[in-house]
Amino acid sequence: MIDLFSDTLTRPTAAMRSAMASAEVGDEQRGEDPTTRRLEERAAELLGQECATFLPSATMANAIAIQLFCGPGDEILSAENGHVLNYEAGGAAVHARASVRSIPTWTGIFGKNAVLQRLRQDTPHAPRPRLVVVENTTNAGGGRPWPVEESDGVLEAAQQNGLRVHLDGSRLFNAAVALGLPARRLGRGFDSVTLCLSKGLGCPVGAVLAHRREISVQVRRFKQLMGGAMRQSGILGAAGLYALEHHVQRLDEDHANANALAQGLEEISQLVVEKIPLRTNMVYFEVPDRYSPDQLEQRLLANGLRVSRVNHRRFRAVTHLDVSAQDVQRALAIFRQVCQNELS
Ligand SMILES: Cc1ncc(COP(=O)(O)O)c(C=O)c1O
Repeated sequence: MIDLFSDTLTRPTAAMRSAMASAEVGDEQRGEDPTTRRLEERAAELLGQECATFLPSATMANAIAIQLFCGPGDEILSAENGHVLNYEAGGAAVHARASVRSIPTWTGIFGKNAVLQRLRQDTPHAPRPRLVVVENTTNAGGGRPWPVEESDGVLEAAQQNGLRVHLDGSRLFNAAVALGLPARRLGRGFDSVTLCLSKGLGCPVGAVLAHRREISVQVRRFKQLMGGAMRQSGILGAAGLYALEHHVQRLDEDHANANALAQGLEEISQLVVEKIPLRTNMVYFEVPDRYSPDQLEQRLLANGLRVSRVNHRRFRAVTHLDVSAQDVQRALAIFRQVCQNELS
């Protein structure tokens, strides 16, 4: 099976497993796990922040950021297709009793004006806008990296108006590699930054939330509260350190594979591929009305290829550590076979 369902499917390599097996460990909940601490220091340095806290998942990192900056009745601005708004089980409402105001954007990217237009009068009637969430790369927006001028503009608008800005940089290294910029340039200036280790970076578990030193105790309190404090997490921390050392630059390969896939799919007349200016590791495509998306999905699977079905007609294929250039060519052959001979 060639599995392009998600980059969350990556399995730890033999070298990563060996780094995990030999990790020095301690009780993380007590701050005594040396490998986890090293991972936190390294992640903070790479993300342009003072500190970082290791967490079980990017969802928890986002949930903690929201609780740090928002309370009951506060308002969060997010792209309408943002992960925080759509795929975190309504966490903003549950954890912080905050509402999320969605910014219409197909790409997941918005600019300074989108923030300025949503500022509100300070009256008893209105919720208080407190936090802006920027997702880089934008998952549902096609895996797009944010142009730095846009994220700089959002940061400036937010800072001038007393709003905090959280970066859901679950795939920040995909953005950094695609843009040819250091991740610290992309993480700089944000009040907090989520980085997921278990997507393109290839770890089995884990994320970090990077932030200012002065809020470290608060972050750890929320981590404890949410049941995210761990014990000998150095086993996982070692995977994270290994990934930051060995799996960042190779994201280029995933991007080249996604580009090759997109180019091949564009030649198949039964599919409509979403074009994006700078591709990372995702390819979204649609099946026009005259073809059956159910049939496409089932026939691909029957021929040994899995992609993800985002909605009725929209599909996503993601390249990752466990997908080679040859796999992409095999996947294209399956697409051609199914679309040209089996789709009605
Ligand atoms: C942009 C983005 N943020 C956050 C998450 C949450 O990650 P996890 O499911 O590992 O908690 C995801 C997962 O796909 C994501 O794509």
